[in-house]
Amino acid sequence: MTNLILLGPPGAGKGTQARLLVESRGMVQLSTGDMLRDARSSGTEMGRRVAEVMDQGHLVTDEIVIGLIRERLNAGGAGGGYIFDGFPRTLPQADALGALMGELGQRIDHVIAMQVDDEALVDRVSGRSTCGTCGEVYHDRTRPIPGDGRCVTCGGTTFKRRGDDNADSLRVRLLAYYKQTSPLVGYYHAKGLLRGVDGLADIADVSAAIAAILDGTAGPG
Ligand code: AP5
Repeated sequence: MTNLILLGPPGAGKGTQARLLVESRGMVQLSTGDMLRDARSSGTEMGRRVAEVMDQGHLVTDEIVIGLIRERLNAGGAGGGYIFDGFPRTLPQADALGALMGELGQRIDHVIAMQVDDEALVDRVSGRSTCGTCGEVYHDRTRPIPGDGRCVTCGGTTFKRRGDDNADSLRVRLLAYYKQTSPLVGYYHAKGLLRGVDGLADIADVSAAIAAILDGTAGPG
C-alpha cells in the first residue's frame, strides 16, 4: 500500500492526476475540496458556512477538514493506498494527518509537489469544467468536452463550473496557498518525503513522472 500527498496551488492538476491514479492503481482519492463541495450542497448550517468561505477563496477551518479526513480514514477500505488531494493545507493539518496515520499503523510514503506558474493557473482555472455526474475534469482548450456532449468516463451530459473559479477568488486562493500551504514544502522536505514534478508538462507526462516516483524508477530531484 502506498499513501501519497499531492501538493500544489489551485489548478496545478492535483485532481486530474488523482483521478488517473484511482483508475490505474486502484488507489482511493481523498479530496477535501470535493468533501466540502458535498457538504455545501447538503443544506445544513455547516454547509452554508463552508460555501461562504469557499466562494471567497479562503481556507475552511482546520477543525472541519481534519474531522472530514478522520471520518474517511476510520472508515478504511483503501487497499491500494490513499491519495490526499488538497489536504493537508496548513501545518496543523499536516501534524494531524501524521497522527491519524500513526493511529492506523500507516504512514505517508510520498509527497509530490506539482510546480506550475501563476499565469498558467489563471488559464487552467478559468477554462475548467467538470462532469456533473462523475466529476471528470475538463478544460475548454487542453481537454475539451467531447463533441457529442457526453462525458468520456460516464456518458453524462451535464457539466458545471465552480463558483470559486473566478479571478477574484483565485487571487485569494493563491495568497492562501503561498501563506498557509507552501510552508508544507519545507515541512515534508525535512522529513525526506518531498519530490517535485513539472506540472506544466502535458497531462500524460505529469502522470508518467508521478508513476516513476511511486515505482522508484525516478532519478534524483
Ligand atoms: P480544492 O477543491 O482542493 O481546490 P484547489 O486546491 O484550489 O485545487 P483545484 O481543484 O482548483 O485544482 P487542481 O490542482 O485539482 O487542478 P485540476 O486537476 O482541477 O479546494 C477548494 C476550496 O475548498 C479551497 O479554496 C478551500 O476553501 C476549501 N478547502 C479544500 N481543502 C481544504 C483544506 N485542506 N483546508 C481548508 N480548506 C480547504 O486542473 C485544473 C484545470 O487544468 C482543469 O481544467 C484540467 O483539465 C487542467 N489541467 C490539469 N492538468 C493539466 C496539464 N498538465 N496540462 C494542461 N491542463 C491541465
